[in-house]
Amino acid sequence: MRHSERVIRAGLIGFGTIGTGVVKLVQRRRAAIDAMLGAPLRLVRIADLDIKGDRGVRLAKGMLVSDARRVYEAEDIDVVIELMGGYEPARKFVLGAIGRGKSVVTANKALLAVHGREIFGAAARQRVDIGFEASVGGGIPIVRVLRDGVVADRMVAVHGIVNGTCNYILSKMSAEGAQFADVLKEAQARGLAEADPSFDIDGVDSAHKLVILAALAFGTELHLKDVYTEGIRHVAQMDVGYARELGYEIKLLAIATRHGDSVAARVHPALVPAAHVLAGVRGAFNAIYVEGEALGSSMYYGLGAGMMPTATAVVADLVEIARNRLQDTSARVPPLGIPALRRPQRVPMGELHSAYYLRIMVRDRPGVLGHIASILGRHRISIATVIQKERSAGGTVPVVIRTHEARERDLQMALARIGRLAGTQRAPICLRIADDLGGD
Ligand code: HSE
Repeated sequence: MRHSERVIRAGLIGFGTIGTGVVKLVQRRRAAIDAMLGAPLRLVRIADLDIKGDRGVRLAKGMLVSDARRVYEAEDIDVVIELMGGYEPARKFVLGAIGRGKSVVTANKALLAVHGREIFGAAARQRVDIGFEASVGGGIPIVRVLRDGVVADRMVAVHGIVNGTCNYILSKMSAEGAQFADVLKEAQARGLAEADPSFDIDGVDSAHKLVILAALAFGTELHLKDVYTEGIRHVAQMDVGYARELGYEIKLLAIATRHGDSVAARVHPALVPAAHVLAGVRGAFNAIYVEGEALGSSMYYGLGAGMMPTATAVVADLVEIARNRLQDTSARVPPLGIPALRRPQRVPMGELHSAYYLRIMVRDRPGVLGHIASILGRHRISIATVIQKERSAGGTVPVVIRTHEARERDLQMALARIGRLAGTQRAPICLRIADDLGGD
C-alpha cells in the first residue's frame, strides 16, 4: 500500500476516561486508519496534570507531558483533541490551537454550549475544522445525522435522552427498585458521570447538549438560560412505581420544538408511554428522536457515555479531519453547517401545554382530596386519574393525580395553592407526561 509522505500529527489534552479510550482505539486501529487515509495518523503528545497514573496503556517515552502548551502551541501538531472538559482553561486551549491554524476535536458540550459562538466563529475565520461528534450522544453519530443526513428536511421537534448517567439511574430505579443514591455511585464507577455529577442529575449536561442539538436541527442559537432545566433529584422510587402503574416510564428528556418561527427548549423528567420507542431506551443508552416534516420520525440510538463508545466518536472526527487536511480542505466550515445561526423567539415555559403527573403528600383525613380537586378545577385543570392506596389514619399518604392537558402556568399556580393547604405536606411533585411524542 502506498502512503503519502505527509503524516497527520495529533495531540491530546486531557488523559482521563475518554482520553484513555482514544489512545486505546488509535493504537488498536492504527493499521486500518492509516489504510483508510493513505497516510499515517499519529498521536504524538498527550498533556495531563497527572503524568504518573497508570491508565493501562503503553506510551512512547516522553509522550506524556504536564504542560498543555506543548500540545496547543506545538509546531509539529496539526490537530488538537480537547478532552479535559469544563469551561476554562479548555476555552483558552481550544482558541489557542485554532489561532495557530490547528483543527480541533472536542467532546466538551459545556464549552460549546456556552462559548460556541466564539469558538465556531474563530474556526470559520481560520478555516480549520472543529469536530464535536462526541459532545452529544457519545458514540451515536447524531451530529453527522443532523448536519448532513437530514439536511434536506425541516426539523420540527427533537426529543433526546442524552444523559447516560440519569438514564442509568432511572432505568435501575424502574427495573430493580434501586435507590437513587446507590445507583448514582454505580454510574460514577462506570465512568458515565461528569466530574461534578450535579451537572448530570440537575439536567445541566442535557441542557448543554440541547443547545448544540437545537443549533444543528433548527439553525438557531439558543443560550443556556433559554433552556428550562429541571433534573431528577426529586424523582422518588415511588414515582417510578406509580408511573409504571399508569403505563409510563420516567425519562429525563431534552426537548426542542419549533412553534412557527419560535423555539421552546426544555430539560425535565417526563412520563413516556411504555409503548413508545423512547421508553425502551435503558441504562447508559441514549436516543435522539427527531421529527422532520418530510422524513417524519426517526430515532438514533446507542451508548451515550463511557470510555470506548465516546472514543469512537472522537476518533471518527480525527479521521475525517485528517482526511481533510491531507486534501488541504476543511469540510466543517462553517462548523455547524450554516454561516450564521438565527436567534429565535423563545416560547416561555408557562405557555406550553402538557398532561401532568402530580404526587401530593397529604394528611389522611376526610376532605383533603376535595380541596385539591377544587383548586385544580378553579385553574381549569381536569383530572384524569386519582390513585390513593395507602392508609395511615392521621398520618401522611401519597395522592397521585394524572391530569388531562393543561397550561403550565395554570398548573404551577394551582400547585402553589395546593402546597399551602393545611392538609398537604411538602411541595407537590409535578412531572410532565409526554403523551404527544407521536411516531408509534
Ligand atoms: N456525563 C455524561 C452522561 C457523559 O452521563 O451522559 C456523556 O456526555
